[in-house]
Amino acid sequence: MTIANVSVSSVSGSSSSSINASLTSALTTTPATTTSAASAASEPLTQSRVTVPISSYGFSSFPVPSETAIPGVFPVTDPNDPPAVGAPVVPDFEAAWATAYGKAEALLANFTLHEKINITTGVGWENGLCVGNVGAIRDFPGLCLEDSPLGVRDADFVTAFPAGINSATTWNRSLMRRRGLFMGREHVSKGVNIALGPMMNLGRNAAGGRNWEGFGADPFLSGETAYETVLGLQGAGVQACAKHFINNEQEHYRTLESSNVDDRTQHELYAHPFLKAVMAGVTSVMCSYNLINGTYACENDKMINDILKREFGFQGFVMSDWGATESTISAITGLDMTMAGDITLGSHTTFFGQNLTAYVENGTIPESRIDDMATRIIASWYFLHQDTPTYPTPNFNAFLPSDPTTNAHIDAQDSHYRLVREMGAASTVLLKNVRGALPLTGRERGLFMAGSDAGPADIGPNKFVDQGGQSGVLAMGWGSGTANFTYLISPYEAIQHRARKHRTSISWTFNDFDLARAGNMAISQTVCLVFINSDSGEDYIVVDGNEGDRKNLTAWHGGDDLVLAVASQNNNTVVIVHSVGPLILERWIDHPNVTGVLWAGLPGTEAGNALVDVLYGDWNPSGRLPYTIAKNAGDYPTMVVQGEIEGETPGQAGGGDVVLDIEYSERLEIDYRWFDAKNITPRFEFGFGLSYTTFEYSNLSIVKVPRVGDADADEDDGEEDDEARWDAGKATRIAEGSSTALWLHRPAYNVTFEVTNTGDVYGGDIPQIYIHHPPSAGEPPSILRGFTNVEVGAGESAVVSILLSRYDLSIWDVEQQGWRRGDGGEGGGGIGLTVGVSSREGRLYGVVPV
Ligand code: BGC
Repeated sequence: MTIANVSVSSVSGSSSSSINASLTSALTTTPATTTSAASAASEPLTQSRVTVPISSYGFSSFPVPSETAIPGVFPVTDPNDPPAVGAPVVPDFEAAWATAYGKAEALLANFTLHEKINITTGVGWENGLCVGNVGAIRDFPGLCLEDSPLGVRDADFVTAFPAGINSATTWNRSLMRRRGLFMGREHVSKGVNIALGPMMNLGRNAAGGRNWEGFGADPFLSGETAYETVLGLQGAGVQACAKHFINNEQEHYRTLESSNVDDRTQHELYAHPFLKAVMAGVTSVMCSYNLINGTYACENDKMINDILKREFGFQGFVMSDWGATESTISAITGLDMTMAGDITLGSHTTFFGQNLTAYVENGTIPESRIDDMATRIIASWYFLHQDTPTYPTPNFNAFLPSDPTTNAHIDAQDSHYRLVREMGAASTVLLKNVRGALPLTGRERGLFMAGSDAGPADIGPNKFVDQGGQSGVLAMGWGSGTANFTYLISPYEAIQHRARKHRTSISWTFNDFDLARAGNMAISQTVCLVFINSDSGEDYIVVDGNEGDRKNLTAWHGGDDLVLAVASQNNNTVVIVHSVGPLILERWIDHPNVTGVLWAGLPGTEAGNALVDVLYGDWNPSGRLPYTIAKNAGDYPTMVVQGEIEGETPGQAGGGDVVLDIEYSERLEIDYRWFDAKNITPRFEFGFGLSYTTFEYSNLSIVKVPRVGDADADEDDGEEDDEARWDAGKATRIAEGSSTALWLHRPAYNVTFEVTNTGDVYGGDIPQIYIHHPPSAGEPPSILRGFTNVEVGAGESAVVSILLSRYDLSIWDVEQQGWRRGDGGEGGGGIGLTVGVSSREGRLYGVVPV
């Protein structure tokens, strides 16, 4: 059944004429029923559909390095020792991968087929200590896979870090890296081998339920945050997992929707953060629940074999999302590991295990592919040196947290709260500040707080499983992307503590709905702080009618009414927002009595303290919006598709034979790109954020970076030089690793300018670079391609340098399947460039020369 503008199509892969006879018969044969790990099952299997086109791309077990490391430009890098943040280098992990592959091949040399397949098959839901587990085999101790992208899930004595969206909101690479590093260390202390993050879907829909786990609605910002997070996590010794590959942009029917995305959009937008994760040496990628162009992500030959493994040269392994494997033949289309192992969680059946063995034994799948799968998994383990005997084994039980025999209750927190507090402040965006409302001076006589979001949860911070409910301050969303709070500082606690110092008189109400009382209490206070929020999460939990995705973009618990009730009685009303994503603020944003707005996102365990630092000016706000806040929900280019399929329950894994088609027809124009292209005025644009001081920019210069060393191995082959070809407007040549080729990503242009702090206080600024391709390129008007953070004292100046690579100035040429200059190179007129303070406010303008 279809409703509204949703089309529904049958699930079927584009059939290929090259299907060979044995494969055809294997595809139509019901596989054996169970693995050795779960032999109890006599249940029938549910594999009834054939969705897999046969690979037209070869796979090689180990891509050949195409370039030579050059010290100072492409340093040979071990993942445990990544380059410093901001170093103008592209780390070269080839040697580390080669060593790891050598060790993996040696370890696996005597493994039987059955043993190798066991490495690729999770032990099944709730059959191990972690949320995903690979069993021990001979000298290999097995693997513990554990969520989440903001800390260690299902464990105690861990830190609840700021959510991914807050990491992006800092636009500060050092903080992003340190967050990754500290989360990585906590995973290692708990004995986790593979941390299931970062999550890097793009926030195509403002109401998408899991947007907060990720890094916002721009591919470049998301890619930079992903890059630093992976380098940080793996720097600590845990393997990272880039998820969810790909186009898992809404929760509603996530297992029954086909995201239909054209090749250019896929390359330039949705795949870009994954490319950056590969360049950071990520060892694993998780394929998503949805279909892409009619084929499930975990059996999507095009996405996994062609783009990820061939074009990006990804040398780690691909695991399924939990229950997202759809067939045994997925092994051929690139899937390396099935998680949690069973077909549906707890089914005691598997598409891998004995079924995969049978496919090898009957000649359908070559054993060399099994070797490749097992080698990729074991090599990743060696790549991170997890074979060292001191690497901790799992010391917590994700499913039985009170079991005394499996929980050691190790305190993993260290002093990570300091980073949480700093990042909480650095990710708070000052959206409005009039009549000197902020920062507070300490001279306030009366301060009133209104709203449940100001206060603590009624029975502690872990009242709801996986945070699937709301009580008190909102510091993370819900679902698998969560961690338990060891403690949670609410604004009420932190503000009281601070106010005592200033002898300020404090009052509060946590009741969101008693508007009359809130209004009365607001009368004659020096300042009123109104707290509102908005929550979302993963589809397996429904909160207040929100099935993962948000059902609207307005504040929860009538928050807008509370703001108006207070603002109607007090002319110094400051609104604080804890939200998973954009909200429509129109009912009160222009109210003359609303003098300030602080956008705090989801700051984690130090929520209240971080807010106090910004409120009182100990931290000068430097956060910038990682998405657009519109005036109307209808201004956004897309909405969550709310189609219903007869007989199907949203949120249940796969199984149906009809799916929702979701056309990504806005193509390159998501978020600010759409508002710019369609000339729609947003309320607050992407990249926007105020400070307690002001900055001026001057002296723009754009120069070509001279070439250092010979990064282009092709030169010696008598072939045309890659860099010169690109400069001449030709597309890159497709090859294994061609999109991650070091030469393409090396610094090519140096953009420098001066930033002067023209205000009265020290502050941090985030200069942003937007480029403008000529109309012939078919790009949105402005595209973010660079940013940095700079701290400057009052009255002082700093020279800022931002490097751009050839890749940064490229568009994806669909015909030639390569990256090329957007202006066509020589004679193309150059590419426009703006240095600005947001996507809409430019300060300096130039042209990138050829
Ligand atoms: C989520 C993943 C998560 C996995 C394991 C799935 O439902 O989509 O992000 O890592 O569960 O908990």
